[in-house]
Amino acid sequence: MPWRRRPSRNFEEALNISDLREVARRRVPGFVFEYVEGGAEDEVTLRSNREALESLRFVPQTLVHTADRHHRAMLCGRESAAPLVVAPTGGNGMLHPQGDLCLARAAARLGVPFCLSTVSSMRLEDIATRAGGRLWMQLYVMQNRAIAEDIMRRADGAGYEALVFTTDANVFGSREWDRRNYRAPGKPNLRALLDTLRHPRWLYQIVYRDGIPRFRNLESFLPPAAATAVGGSTILPQMFRATITWDDVAWIRDFWPRKLLIKGVLSVSDAQRAADLGCDGIFLSNHGGRQLDSCVAPIEVLPEIAAAVGNRLSIIVDSGFRRGTDIVKALALGAHAVGIGRPTLYGLIAAGEPGVDRAMQILTSETDRVLGQLGCRSVAELGPQLLHRRLS
Ligand SMILES: Cc1cc2nc3c(=O)[nH]c(=O)nc-3n(C[C@H](O)[C@H](O)[C@H](O)COP(=O)(O)O)c2cc1C
Repeated sequence: MPWRRRPSRNFEEALNISDLREVARRRVPGFVFEYVEGGAEDEVTLRSNREALESLRFVPQTLVHTADRHHRAMLCGRESAAPLVVAPTGGNGMLHPQGDLCLARAAARLGVPFCLSTVSSMRLEDIATRAGGRLWMQLYVMQNRAIAEDIMRRADGAGYEALVFTTDANVFGSREWDRRNYRAPGKPNLRALLDTLRHPRWLYQIVYRDGIPRFRNLESFLPPAAATAVGGSTILPQMFRATITWDDVAWIRDFWPRKLLIKGVLSVSDAQRAADLGCDGIFLSNHGGRQLDSCVAPIEVLPEIAAAVGNRLSIIVDSGFRRGTDIVKALALGAHAVGIGRPTLYGLIAAGEPGVDRAMQILTSETDRVLGQLGCRSVAELGPQLLHRRLS
């Protein structure tokens, strides 16, 4: 439709997450944006996360007084200002010099949990002292279990509220579009390097001023050359190896004194196992389409998992959520909250902390509007009766 105006390049004028993505895309070299965007292999999972959400339709209730509605939610035993969690993302320092801190502060300001990645660019202790708010620590258990012990001990000391054990990255996904930007692991090819010259602000801030971001939480376990985001990409895959099992959950449960969530659950039997082992929550997630291709979308398995364990633990669902309509669909099907990955990263790239605020404002105001349009005064009034599955 050629008469329609194109979205603004100013993040403050972004009307939705897609507008914010467009602002972000222009601000970083292509290989950095591809790192954020990419899905595994043919990106079937990436696409079907969106298709599954879009295939659901609402059946609104009409003539309900909703002027006093709110979107607060109970999550892991505490009230949250919105039914959202900022999902863990590694390598945020490649997107913004203080990426982890910007995300954590914006989440604290809104009053929702922020989950810091094991492979963050800032130390977990620094986030705790400088951001505050509800902090969750994501855990990758690598072959050397001493790394997980170190992270757990430090997160406990720093007062993190919850530990999120990610289980779907034991074998690395192959993001082929991302890999095409490198001539060898961690070594961008000539085209990618030349592209950085078109982004002098990124080059100055990320490479020259502060130095290439490092995996600060892992520094004492990595050889110096491997501690940077670039060097680490060669050694990290070897450190992972597919050695994690349910025995590790029992081990972590003994070690970690506070809330424990498992991220990467997609079947009823795994959800029941997590509940039986005393976990406080699960993330239904396919890692935003970055790991297994042709994987089921979390929203598709949510109803059966919510029916099986929804009264025993908190259910957070992520992968592909871009609109308030998506968030409300998940809550109506039994989720307690939605994890946000790329949308807050678009805000971060677009404008740092104010950009993350903008992403959150967009998602919360859309959620609020949809609640009102459905005739609901709170998320507690949502239910599957408000959804209609199309026949084709
Ligand atoms: C750039 C990027 C880095 C990520 N890094 C991690 C990570 O370190 N640990 C983890 O558990 N999940 C990681 N994820 C997955 C997210 O936590 C989340 O599951 C996913 O992004 C949700 O999908 P969405 O991006 O469509 O919202 C990452 C995702 C992205 C996009």
